[in-house]
Amino acid sequence: MSSHGEPRPLTARRAPGLKGEAHVPGDKSVSHRSLILGALSVGETSITGLLEGQDVLDTAKAMQAFGAEVERTGTGAWTVRGVGVGGFAEPEDVIDCGNSGTGVRLIMGAMATTPISATFTGDASLRSRPMGRITDPLALFGARSYGRGGGRLPLTLVGAADPIPVHYRVPVPSAQVKSAVLLAALNAPGVTEVTEPEATRDHTERMLRGFGAEIETERTPGGALIRLTGQPELRPQTIVVPRDPSSAAFPVCAALIVEGSDVLVPGIGLNPTRAGLYTTLREMGADLTFQNEREEGGEPVADLRAKFSPNMKGIEVPPERAPSMIDEYPILSVVAAFAAGKTVMLGVKELRVKESDRIDAMARGLEACGVKVEETQDTFTVHGMGPGGVPGGATAASRLDHRIAMSFLICGMAAKKAVTVDDAGAILTSFPIFEDLMGGLGAMFTRDNR
Ligand code: S3P
Repeated sequence: MSSHGEPRPLTARRAPGLKGEAHVPGDKSVSHRSLILGALSVGETSITGLLEGQDVLDTAKAMQAFGAEVERTGTGAWTVRGVGVGGFAEPEDVIDCGNSGTGVRLIMGAMATTPISATFTGDASLRSRPMGRITDPLALFGARSYGRGGGRLPLTLVGAADPIPVHYRVPVPSAQVKSAVLLAALNAPGVTEVTEPEATRDHTERMLRGFGAEIETERTPGGALIRLTGQPELRPQTIVVPRDPSSAAFPVCAALIVEGSDVLVPGIGLNPTRAGLYTTLREMGADLTFQNEREEGGEPVADLRAKFSPNMKGIEVPPERAPSMIDEYPILSVVAAFAAGKTVMLGVKELRVKESDRIDAMARGLEACGVKVEETQDTFTVHGMGPGGVPGGATAASRLDHRIAMSFLICGMAAKKAVTVDDAGAILTSFPIFEDLMGGLGAMFTRDNR
């Protein structure tokens, strides 16, 4: 079942060459942060290019529940009138973050040092995900949490009345954990220090700087040391959200594996902490070029041009690259299935605690499509079958996971026989225009089963 309705099966058939331009939606990570930081500043933040996927809409609703005025003024255009750091009001009802780990974890951080209580819940996927990684560091500030076994949602967080700054070493490579700590630090007096041994996406640090917080990052032998001075007055901003590199991955990868394709995906944010997939694809031999490289809003941006690439080879993807492409392993696994030889993905255990266990979801779905895979707790190997070589003719379970659903639909576009996903509903969380956008390039999706 999708989180917001009945299951919606969708089938993808082998497509003719994909052609055209794909304008993918705004970045999900930046969209969540725009709303939350807007709510924590004093005055009106205006946002354009906001991703209007369910995950972000749930965060917008949550910010209203905490007292911010949030208004949609046009397509992707929103304003947030914030209440200032420490100004969150106690919500009257349970905060439902739907499918969004980023939403719930960042919001918990943002409220943890304000003396209010809130209860959080989400869909079956989110209720199964670990929250101890967030509530443990928030407890150091003085916040208390009462969740189900293993700290799972539904969970009530009681914000610290007298917060203290902390020194925290992030134990797992997670931008959500780092960001929750930094957002909590905003309302703690003094300097909070966060050490991050492995670099993860740095949107929170960049945006906090933009909103006027005193924050600096120092490279040390033990990783990045981030220092944030608490209780700033955040200044409202005008934010142009870049297009999402994680969403761009789907039309790009489809073009690489569907014979005869030539697709342009313009205006994609290529922050180095997000661009690992594109490095990997080029190493595999993908015909992928960056055109019109430029800077927009302090972020590197380019137009991606992807063409059918019949000579791709399997490679070993190093573990240190994992944080910069953590959301892209499902679609990389599909590309790997159409390459020659095996692709070995190392250091990927964080995939097991995403919207689904993504190693298991990809392994079972690819096997059903006739692809040989191997897995350990921390690695995933796909034995490629060459261009057009994947048999397909199967149904893959999407497990309430948007990226699993989209990956198998792309698989069906290049496989010998059609591939069905049992529920495409979750795609609405991050890429609500996916079906239309891919259809515009030439994809053949149908609602009936094979
Ligand atoms: C995100 C961080 C990543 C990523 C998620 C978005 C963020 O999660 O998978 O889609 O916006 O901070 P982790 O922090 O669990 O790695």
